[in-house]
Amino acid sequence: MAKRKVAILISGRGSNMMALAKAAQAADCSYEIAIVASDRPDAAGLAWAREHNLVTFALSPKGIGKPAYEAAIDGALREAGAEVIALAGYMRLLSDEFVAKWRGRIVNIHPSLLPKYKGLDTHGRAIEAGDAVAGCSVHVVTEELDGGEVLGQAEVPIEPGDTAETLAARVLVEEHRLYPRVLADFAAR
Ligand code: GAR
Repeated sequence: MAKRKVAILISGRGSNMMALAKAAQAADCSYEIAIVASDRPDAAGLAWAREHNLVTFALSPKGIGKPAYEAAIDGALREAGAEVIALAGYMRLLSDEFVAKWRGRIVNIHPSLLPKYKGLDTHGRAIEAGDAVAGCSVHVVTEELDGGEVLGQAEVPIEPGDTAETLAARVLVEEHRLYPRVLADFAAR
């Protein structure tokens, strides 16, 4: 079966992008990376992607406005043949228009057990609430922030003395296991 072409959008270090790209190297993986795109031309993950011979695209929305920025991203993704978009630490909200164009074909990894803790500072809020477990979720992206169908989750215990940083590091290990598996299932749908 032909592999589904995935575009990965990042804003920073791109460790989830790396996990997705490494998993894509398996001969039987259902997806391949068509392009890695970023709203931050200086994103560390972009350098890694270039070093690994992935097609990259970078454009800052600063100065051109969101509609022009998103039109350029959309064009780059389509030119690369992307069929699915995987957000991986992409810290910018997609417009309703963009989401509608790619309806049902955008997934995201979020560092909480959704529907708990949508938005930012997920780990700090989980600790503050006295939760015993935290974790991460992969979900379909809709117009509602972190609100689409949950495709998969992994739980991580919150240990006594955890800070947002120590918890984030432990959750990240699970993100790297969860995301490639869930994306592979999604791409094979
Ligand atoms: C990850 O923990 C991801 O779950 C989170 O940002 C980090 C990106 O790390 N995403 C969000 O908070 C989205 N709202 P990475 O760049 O190393 O993959």
